[in-house]
Amino acid sequence: MQLKEKSIIITGGTSGIGYEMVKILAPDNDVIVIARTPHKLDQLAQTFERVYPFQADLTRLDEVERVADAIAKRFSAIDILINNAAMQHTPTFLADDFTYESIQREITLNFTSICCLTYLLLPLLIHQDEATLLNMNSGLALAPKTSSAVYCATKAALNIFTQSLRYQLETTHIHVQQAFLDLVETPMTTGRGTHKMSAQAAAREVLKGIERNIPDHDICKVKLLRILLRIAPAIARRIMKKY
Ligand SMILES: NC(=O)c1ccc[n+]([C@@H]2O[C@H](COP(=O)([O-])OP(=O)(O)OC[C@H]3O[C@@H](n4cnc5c(N)ncnc54)[C@H](OP(=O)(O)O)[C@@H]3O)[C@@H](O)[C@H]2O)c1
Repeated sequence: MQLKEKSIIITGGTSGIGYEMVKILAPDNDVIVIARTPHKLDQLAQTFERVYPFQADLTRLDEVERVADAIAKRFSAIDILINNAAMQHTPTFLADDFTYESIQREITLNFTSICCLTYLLLPLLIHQDEATLLNMNSGLALAPKTSSAVYCATKAALNIFTQSLRYQLETTHIHVQQAFLDLVETPMTTGRGTHKMSAQAAAREVLKGIERNIPDHDICKVKLLRILLRIAPAIARRIMKKY
C-alpha cells in the first residue's frame, strides 16, 4: 500500500517509534494520534498540520470506547490502524518495586485495548478498497526474557490474536499485519540494553512492511531469532532469557 493521502490512526504517536512514524507520515497523510498526555498531543498538532489528536488512557476500556466513538463521528473511513501504544513494567514478581496494579494496566493497554479498538474501528476500515491493520510486536513474543513477564505474555497473546484475526478477515480487503522488533532506543528502553536500533530506523522499517504488505515482519535481529528458534531452540531461549 502506498503511504500517500491515507487516513491513518496511530496509538501512542507522541513518543518513541510512534512519534517517528507520525513524523514520516504527517506531511502526506491525515494522521489521527491517540495518546494519553494532553500537552504532548497539543504539541504534535501544533507541529503538524495534518495531525488530529485524540486523548485517551487506553488502560481504561471506557476510554477506548469513548475515543473510538469520537473518531467514528469525525472520520467516515480509515485506511490504516497502527496499534502501537504499549507499556513495559520490568521488575520481576519477586522485586520490591513490582507494582501489583501494573498487571491489569499492562494487559489492558498491550492486549485488551487492541482487541477492543480493532473491533470498534473495523467498520471504518472494512469498506475501503484496501486497508491495513498493523500491530506492533516484539521478539519477546517468540521467546520471553526473565524480566517483564507480563509484557512478554501480552506480546505473545498479540501474536496469536493477529494471526487468528488474519484468518477471520481473509475475505475482506484488510491486510492484518504485525511488526516484530528487537530493542529500540526509546523512552520504553531508557537505561537498558546496548546496540539498540534508533526509533527513526525502526519506524522506517515498520512502514516499509506496510508498503510491501509483509504479514509477519521480522525486523533486524528478530530475523535471526526466528531462524535460531528453528535450528537451535534451546540456545535461542537461553539468549532471550538474559535479554
Ligand atoms: N522500544 C523497544 O525496544 C521495543 C521493542 C519491541 C517492540 N516495541 C513495541 O513498539 C511499540 C512502541 O514502543 P516505544 O518504545 O516507542 O514506546 P514509548 O516510547 O514508551 O511510547 C509509548 C507511547 O504509548 C503511549 N501510551 C502509553 N501509555 C498509554 C496509555 N495508557 N494510553 C494511551 N497511550 C499510552 C505513550 O503516550 P504518552 O506519552 O502520552 O503516555 C507513547 O506515545 C510498543 O508496542 C512496544 O511494545 C518496542
